[in-house]
Amino acid sequence: MNEIDSLIGATEATLARIARDFSPAVFASSLAAEDMVLTDLILKARLPIGIFSLDTGRLHPETLAVVDAVEARYGYAIALYRPNAQAVDAYVAQNGLNAFYDSVEMRLACCGIRKVEPLGRALAGNRAWVTGQRRSQSTTRAELAVEEIDAAHGMTKFNPLAAWSEEDVWNYIRANDVPYNALHDQGFPSIGCAPCTRAVQPGEDVRAGRWWWENPDSKECGLHMVDGKLIRIKSVAT
Ligand code: ADX
Ligand code: SF4
Repeated sequence: MNEIDSLIGATEATLARIARDFSPAVFASSLAAEDMVLTDLILKARLPIGIFSLDTGRLHPETLAVVDAVEARYGYAIALYRPNAQAVDAYVAQNGLNAFYDSVEMRLACCGIRKVEPLGRALAGNRAWVTGQRRSQSTTRAELAVEEIDAAHGMTKFNPLAAWSEEDVWNYIRANDVPYNALHDQGFPSIGCAPCTRAVQPGEDVRAGRWWWENPDSKECGLHMVDGKLIRIKSVAT
């Protein structure tokens, strides 16, 4: 068996174990490339793992178009969680629409309203959640485990693609003709909200276009942090 086949086999086994032993479980999809690999594996195996996306209100139209592409391809409707409208209005009224450029604190406050609070609602009542994070994506993810205790949400968190490289992701997408975000073909290896993501030059770090005005060590949105700090969640397995 070659390397990609064994990676796929291990990932399928992890997902099957989550469905069997951690039900109810959900998968958080950002609708970017990694998450399309997991979407394909979950939906092809008809695993009972619900898929949701956090529609922050600032996503690119190309990203939202992936929701329709998934519906067309797999007949599956991804659940969309949106921020509390009053909290968004209050932040914008007080700080302006794009205050996240002003400081890390303002940026984390926006991510808190548009991503972290809706994530809490999406995860409530589940025993586990699944993400598409990979170790090689950033310095903050270098020690990522496949299975972690997420104390902040009181459940187990799985990162089944932890050991996958970017090349593995694209090999899988091409080999299986998986639909993907059109921005990936326009210089966007990593995609978040539109005002906080830009295209990168060939050879640049894959996350160089995310919150590009910040230090690499602060480039997390709060979905994968504890108490707003860059503390690695305790791992239970490697
Ligand atoms: S982020 O923390 O910098 O925004 P990144 O874009 O690398 O995260 O995505 C890492 C994982 O976080 C994704 O694979 C996905 O599981 C989850 N995630 C990020 N953004 C969203 C979103 N808008 N909706 C649902 N899950 C998301
Ligand atoms: Fe706000 Fe940017 Fe965070 Fe999106 S990524 S929630 S626009 S600060």
